[in-house]
Amino acid sequence: MTRTIVHLSDLHFGRIETAILDPLAAAIEGIAPDLVAVSGDLTQRARSREFQQARAFLDRLPGRLIVVPGNHDVPAIGNPYMRFFAGWQRFQTWIHPELEQSFVDEGMAVIGINTARALAWKGGRINRKQMEDVRACFHGAPDGAVKVLVVHHPLDIPHVWPGVSATRARAALRHWEDCGVDLILAGHEHRAFAGGAEKLRLGNHDAVIVQAGTATSTRVRGGEPNSFNVLRVEAGEIRVGRMTWDVEAGEFEKTHEERFVRRCG
Ligand SMILES: [Fe+2]
Ligand SMILES: [Fe+2]
Repeated sequence: MTRTIVHLSDLHFGRIETAILDPLAAAIEGIAPDLVAVSGDLTQRARSREFQQARAFLDRLPGRLIVVPGNHDVPAIGNPYMRFFAGWQRFQTWIHPELEQSFVDEGMAVIGINTARALAWKGGRINRKQMEDVRACFHGAPDGAVKVLVVHHPLDIPHVWPGVSATRARAALRHWEDCGVDLILAGHEHRAFAGGAEKLRLGNHDAVIVQAGTATSTRVRGGEPNSFNVLRVEAGEIRVGRMTWDVEAGEFEKTHEERFVRRCG
């Protein structure tokens, strides 16, 4: 069965290109995805107003929604009380009461885990319980279901990039080797990428690592324009398309598509 997923990341309300919002919502409406996955950094400074704006935008989107927080969604170090004692309160008030959401239906198993920490500056990490939660979610999925993990920090940095993966990512990937993960959707880098996992061999198939660029932030990196991903997963194939913002045209256009063999499902 085919499943369509829109992967958005690093919206950064508080510092967005406002002209992008309406065309982005319209493009997603036209795609009519089964799932919208948002891989963190919904806000710039974790302010209530920014979360309210993010919530209003998410409410416009069709399909099921899974959102994980990013390192920008916990109040800054300059506000230590909010950061250390009420770190996730605003995310939980405006976005979702659970920092980690999951669902399993007849065609999909999707789980988001929170890799951001109030005690870390901007790096990400994974703990033992999260490793177990992912295993339990995927092992409880029906045969052939599309298995999707959503995180903010990359678990496997593409070889073409500098940078570091989330702490304990390698152990986590090893822990999930027999889970049949199809997709790992991440953000944080503000750069788009799709490729086979380099550290994750899953017996007879590989997971596809998908990084989303920033959909709406003014802080683009490496000269890369704003973008988001559209994934189509079938029994034997995963297609990862990139929709890129065209300033002149004032709309998103498909600029890349990569195909990967899906051996399970
Ligand atoms: Fe970001
Ligand atoms: Fe980030």
